[in-house]
Amino acid sequence: MYLFNSEVVSNQKLSQNIYRLRLKAAKDFCRAAAPGKFVMLGTVDGLLDPLLRRPFGICRWGSDWFEVVIKVVGKGSCQLSNLAKGVLVAVHGPLGNGYPNAELESEQKSLFLVAGGMGIASIASQLFFALDRKQSLVGTFLLYGAANISELILLDELTAASSSGLQIQTITDDGSSSRQGFVTQLLIHELQTRPQSRVFACGPEPMLKSVQKILQETGCDGYLSLENRMACGFGVCLGCVQTVLSETSETGMETAKVCTRGPVFPAQQVVF
Ligand SMILES: Cc1cc2nc3c(=O)[nH]c(=O)nc-3n(C[C@H](O)[C@H](O)[C@H](O)COP(=O)(O)OP(=O)(O)OC[C@H]3O[C@@H](n4cnc5c(N)ncnc54)[C@H](O)[C@@H]3O)c2cc1C
Ligand code: FES
Repeated sequence: MYLFNSEVVSNQKLSQNIYRLRLKAAKDFCRAAAPGKFVMLGTVDGLLDPLLRRPFGICRWGSDWFEVVIKVVGKGSCQLSNLAKGVLVAVHGPLGNGYPNAELESEQKSLFLVAGGMGIASIASQLFFALDRKQSLVGTFLLYGAANISELILLDELTAASSSGLQIQTITDDGSSSRQGFVTQLLIHELQTRPQSRVFACGPEPMLKSVQKILQETGCDGYLSLENRMACGFGVCLGCVQTVLSETSETGMETAKVCTRGPVFPAQQVVF
């Protein structure tokens, strides 16, 4: 992992409160990036306050840049969303384990990528990875839910993946897109006809709990990318711990640091 100050290449407003930052990065950083990994970002001026560094998924990257998508929810995300081209950002990463298999071409199983809200940043990293390497996405389904239509972001670029075989379904809580409801409804419906599927999901905790239950009931294999609050991002503060099942502990459970052992966990290991 690398610790460096990076220059903002561009800052694009995607919706009322969601921004895409493209940042410069060294080639080594880009080689170490992988779908599902994340960075801790902070303003250079804010470095004296470590709490101002915040975790964001690496959504897409090239040979000397990477992008994050930031929803403004508080002080740190607001500061980052306001950065102009040329300003320096403190970057620590790539961090975390990422998804277990970046190769999306499935042999027999269908692959369902399930995104809720800003979970799309992590989920889209798998799709951009495949697209940028011209991999086939036949047998891959993106199920994407958000609060309303303006928060369904990156759809233009993701729709371009349809020519590679990706199938996309969207849904919103308020029905402002074509369907109303939760993204888990789409998953239940799809798994009825494709019981041998594999599922990767990222989104708010209630959504992940629901995905876990659906996987238990259908017997499908799956992984959840957790977004627990983080202070350090590299295993020293214990701010991000999550209870998980353990075969070695007497109680059958242990705590895991999401920043180093995760953020991606086998779905049935997570104890919500
Ligand atoms: C591994 C990982 C990857 C992430 N990737 C992205 C991403 O790609 N894009 C993105 O917009 N956000 C992402 N997040 C969430 C993002 O880190 C938080 O929104 C951000 O840290 C909030 O900082 P803040 O200073 O703006 O808000 P704060 O002032 O710290 O908090 C504002 C509000 O947001 C809530 N909040 C803060 N962090 C979280 C969290 N992790 N989960 C739930 N609620 C939270 C607080 O409880 C509070 O209500 C990710 C988080 C993790 C752990
Ligand atoms: S965020 Fe500090 S240990 Fe995980």
